[in-house]
Amino acid sequence: MLTVNYGKFLLLIYLCSTIKTTRSKHSDSPHVILIVADDVGWNDVGFHGSNQIPTPNIDALAYNGIILNRFYTAPSCTPSRTALLTGQYPTRFGLQGIPIAAGENQHLPEDVPTLPERLKELGYKTHLIGKWNLGAAFKNVTPNGRGFDSYFGYWNSYIGYFDHEAKGDNMKGFDMHYNFEPAWDTYGQYATDLFTKVAEEMIWQHDVSQPMFLMLSHLAGHSGKNGIELEVPDVEENDRMFGYIADVKRRRYAGIIHELDKSVGRVIEVLEDRKMLDNSVVIIISDNGAQTVGNYRNWGSNWPLRGLKMTVHEGGIRNFAAAYSSLFQNPGRVNNDLFFIADLMPTIYAAGGGNVEDLAPMDGINQWQLLTQNTGLRRSEALLHIDEVRKCSAYISDYGRYKLINGSSLFEDYDLYFGEDGRDNSSPPYDINAVISSPAYVAIGKDIPVDRMLQLRKEVTMGNCRRPISPNNRCNYKNWCLYDLFEDPCETTNLASTYPEVVDKLSQKLAEAWMHLKPQKPKFVDPRANPIYCNNTWFTWLDD
Ligand SMILES: *[C@@H]1O[C@H](CO)[C@@H](O)[C@H](O)[C@H]1NC(C)=O
Ligand SMILES: *[C@@H]1O[C@H](CO)[C@@H](O)[C@H](O)[C@H]1NC(C)=O
Repeated sequence: MLTVNYGKFLLLIYLCSTIKTTRSKHSDSPHVILIVADDVGWNDVGFHGSNQIPTPNIDALAYNGIILNRFYTAPSCTPSRTALLTGQYPTRFGLQGIPIAAGENQHLPEDVPTLPERLKELGYKTHLIGKWNLGAAFKNVTPNGRGFDSYFGYWNSYIGYFDHEAKGDNMKGFDMHYNFEPAWDTYGQYATDLFTKVAEEMIWQHDVSQPMFLMLSHLAGHSGKNGIELEVPDVEENDRMFGYIADVKRRRYAGIIHELDKSVGRVIEVLEDRKMLDNSVVIIISDNGAQTVGNYRNWGSNWPLRGLKMTVHEGGIRNFAAAYSSLFQNPGRVNNDLFFIADLMPTIYAAGGGNVEDLAPMDGINQWQLLTQNTGLRRSEALLHIDEVRKCSAYISDYGRYKLINGSSLFEDYDLYFGEDGRDNSSPPYDINAVISSPAYVAIGKDIPVDRMLQLRKEVTMGNCRRPISPNNRCNYKNWCLYDLFEDPCETTNLASTYPEVVDKLSQKLAEAWMHLKPQKPKFVDPRANPIYCNNTWFTWLDD
């Protein structure tokens, strides 16, 4: 039974859903459930080959759907989520830098339509649960102002898992809101479970004659309280369950991912109970790579990939991703095509029956046909990043083969190898039976053979491709790096001097991208935002 007292919130939803919205001809469009994990590393899901942190529900989703094996994002959360919700490069809006800080008046441009805004035109009911991090200075730039019919979550970049406190530079305050109302009554409830409860409730309350877009944007696996603590519901139980992981911090992180995985199972289960799963698309991604060391470290692992969150090495931007839908032909396959996070907007819009030409201009590419039929336009290249303040940019071309890096990451020593491989025999062997008995697998009910699942896992499991990093392989804006990612996914060999013509071609592309660049605003945390003025709670502070 629900222990959350969100009566007021549900009443609101109920009132909204009885108002006759423009019911369009798209009423049979699929429901779309987009699950976004935070700072979860390449090696932190079971289907990528590590035995350290079992993720049976996520694995079941991946094996029954499509594994997106070349899914790229921006190196941190605000630019990634900007691309996700606008379908455009964050460089167009000055949002390419480090994430928006609590108390900073930065936001998505108000005249650029968002994915939920466009989906509403197609008749969708839209909900966001969890993290936003795309502006909260005034109401019109928060989720409720940007296309979400309902919102439950936190506006800033992270909170404590239990106390829901978001910390800014010199200020901190409670950050959990039902639409605009502080959700003080949820204090002390574990965030992953709380978000899942609300998601279950939203699905349960949904009027199925209308398509639903539910974005479940988790806190997991970001570091929690004060950006430091790795909080799990029950420390003792957690340390028993993951006692085989020697590093106690990694053990706690495993617990955070375990809760995330359970959430995925619960969401799929309730979709099935509600008879919505057959007409749903469920997508799960991480917004950027893990932060194994450094600021906000979470002990996640991008093994064997190089670099961390905040870098444009593979560990920062190549992320785990999978999609499941009964609308996909030949499910249980690996897609090796290049995907950029901005593609999700036109792809989901097309899934909803929209004509993507109505979206122009888009940097994202509609990959819906690629998902459903494995045919259609393939992305050949993408601007991965430009941060003109920290002097770092990267471009990927030739269907994901070549990547040029001009500059270094914000923290130069983030560009090395970090994270555990989880493949030694300290971890229990991979438990395919746990996948088969997971709520997600049972709800999907497709009986995909064990051999096939293990084969898929093998296909996307990378071996140890790491090599010592030579000085000419440390990138900066005087020493550009070029990698052949098909041959060298661990970025061991800088080919910039070997293939000058490829460097020329990609630097030309980068130079073109610089032309559309909108410079970042200088970082300014507004003292008027300070939660001490508002009962130690974050509120919007620039409304009239
Ligand atoms: C390379 O980086 C430097 C420093 O950020 C920048 O001035 C220059 O325009 C960049 N060149 C290209 C082609 O990206
Ligand atoms: C202030 O916040 C507390 C929770 O921290 C809440 O119980 C109380 O009702 C709030 N006071 C006012 C005046 O809103």
